Amino acid sequence: MLDRTDPTFRESVLKGLAKDPKVLEPKWFYDAAGSALFDEICELPEYYPTRTEKSILEERAAEIASELGNDVILYEPGAGSLQKARILLEALEGLARFIPSDISAAHLEAAASDLRKAFPDIAIDPVACDFTKHLEMPAIADDRPVTIFFPGSTIGNFEPGQAENLLRRFRKETGARQLLIGVDLVKDRETLVAAYDDAAGVTAAFNLNLLKRINRELEADFALHQFQHHALFNESRSRIEMHLESLCEQSVSISGERFDFRDGERIHTENSYKYTPERFASLAGKAGWVKPHLWTDQNRLFGVFLFQSEEAD
Ligand code: TRP
Repeated sequence: MLDRTDPTFRESVLKGLAKDPKVLEPKWFYDAAGSALFDEICELPEYYPTRTEKSILEERAAEIASELGNDVILYEPGAGSLQKARILLEALEGLARFIPSDISAAHLEAAASDLRKAFPDIAIDPVACDFTKHLEMPAIADDRPVTIFFPGSTIGNFEPGQAENLLRRFRKETGARQLLIGVDLVKDRETLVAAYDDAAGVTAAFNLNLLKRINRELEADFALHQFQHHALFNESRSRIEMHLESLCEQSVSISGERFDFRDGERIHTENSYKYTPERFASLAGKAGWVKPHLWTDQNRLFGVFLFQSEEAD
């Protein structure tokens, strides 16, 4: 597929690196190489969230299904490869309709047609949209209640205030009655940091790939070996932070503009917020999602919550 440069990429990079401290928006991680590295992260021994969430969905599928009911429309924002949806669709026998949405229309259509083969009795109606802006509903007359499915602790990659707004919008834009959402839980620092700084260096490669992409798409000259992946747990803000740290004093040219780095200066590339069950329930409550039901694993590493919309009361 053609790797066309998003016209807003340059503007976002130049603006972020002119800030103090320097930042890059995480949405640019996902070019072809970045997406492949991300899939690899999900398989790493240190990266417990994907595996733990999957096992919760698999082991508790029957209970989740009975709480959800069959007569619902399942809607997944940012559905990607539809891997987790498969587990749920298996469990929700007789589900009528599944709406995966994703920003990449081509990727989504391919994943949807595979899914149709595996679930011939479920209507699969993909819609291309950017969930950070707006959730589209397909133009279909079906007034069954909507359940939003938002796995992967993607909610943790937003600032808590943004996360609250996002969850409120999900409810209002789809009229959803229920929200099934995966959330990574607070735990010891070692486990958390290892998940974002694995021994094989895959997460480091994922983070550094952003500089590679900037070099390739924005006529830049980052010397990749002069930057280093750095992951830390910021306990007071309850978040993992990912940074790219300059290993010396240097300057970099991007699209003809010059950016100076001090030795040790960092570019902040992503946050991953970790919640206690209570704190997440309270955030969701402010967005109009009430009556939490939590499923978790034995070690309470990860949480799958089901909320009801306050309007359904
Ligand atoms: N939302 C997941 C998390 O925060 C997945 C993820 C997003 C991620 N960006 C990442 C994982 C960067 C590792 C590195 O864990």
